[in-house]
Amino acid sequence: MAQELLKGKKGIIFGALNDMSIAWKVAEQAVAQGAEIVLTNAPIAMRMGSINDLASQCNNAPVIPADATSEEDLQNLIEGAMEHFGGKIDFILHSIGMSPNVRKGKHYTDVNYNFYSTTLDVSAISLHKTLAVAKKLDAINEWGSVVALTYIAAQRIFPDYGDMADAKSLLESITRSFGYHYGTEKKVRINTISQSPTITTAGSGVKGFDEFIAYSESMSPLGNADALACADYCITMFSDLTRYVTMQNLFHDGGFSNTGVSMEVISKFSLEA
Ligand SMILES: NC(=O)c1ccc[n+]([C@@H]2O[C@H](COP(=O)([O-])OP(=O)(O)OC[C@H]3O[C@@H](n4cnc5c(N)ncnc54)[C@H](O)[C@@H]3O)[C@@H](O)[C@H]2O)c1
Repeated sequence: MAQELLKGKKGIIFGALNDMSIAWKVAEQAVAQGAEIVLTNAPIAMRMGSINDLASQCNNAPVIPADATSEEDLQNLIEGAMEHFGGKIDFILHSIGMSPNVRKGKHYTDVNYNFYSTTLDVSAISLHKTLAVAKKLDAINEWGSVVALTYIAAQRIFPDYGDMADAKSLLESITRSFGYHYGTEKKVRINTISQSPTITTAGSGVKGFDEFIAYSESMSPLGNADALACADYCITMFSDLTRYVTMQNLFHDGGFSNTGVSMEVISKFSLEA
């Protein structure tokens, strides 16, 4: 699908850990559509994952480590990317999520509050910090586009999602608030994409994930959207075809969010033998 939707555009992609990561697919699709990219992830993820393989597949894209909770790292990343590109950036993907409470099986009603702060800092405030650093450096071109990935647990309770639900609510709120200010001053747009459950390292950390994926599949008229389809949606959001879309939470979930119940689920409760 060589449509060159991102021809001439330059972007930073956070969060490609391994080839299951949604960010991995976004990086591949962005380059296939003509973009130049810089890859980044937390320094610790550099050792755990395989980001250098992705970099070589993506025309030897530079990899600049950054802990997204560190303003200093973010400044170094954004300055490094601008130096590499020889100018400003057109798009950013924020594909970052991590909850120590969920990882350690802490119940939502009995969280460790230091962990809770980390969940919010890593999974939501990191978007604010990225945008604030980018704005101070005037790093994003007019009509540039920032996308962060979220989940419907921001709006509805999914018990095993724990404090990540609160992080996603905050992420979506930052998107609206920063979207107003960055839009007014610099015509930069900011949106979240609310993705179906997807088998990745972060996704599989949620308890009962396999059963949940099956439930979600049976509640989505089109079925669960996979990582590649999510990447395609991100590409449209980075392209000029969506120039007036900002401050939105965009569901990319096969219709799950607007389905009250499906006949497939109802049939499981049938009293007839
Ligand atoms: N997988 C799903 O079911 C699903 C559904 C909806 C939304 N999402 C969201 O999609 C995004 C990407 O997750 P994924 O499913 O591809 O999993 P993933 O585990 O591949 O990606 C999560 C990334 O966050 C990075 N990260 C963690 N702490 C960081 C830090 N301090 N600084 C910089 N990066 C850090 C990790 O290194 C990793 O690359 C997350 O925001 C996640 O919540 C995932």
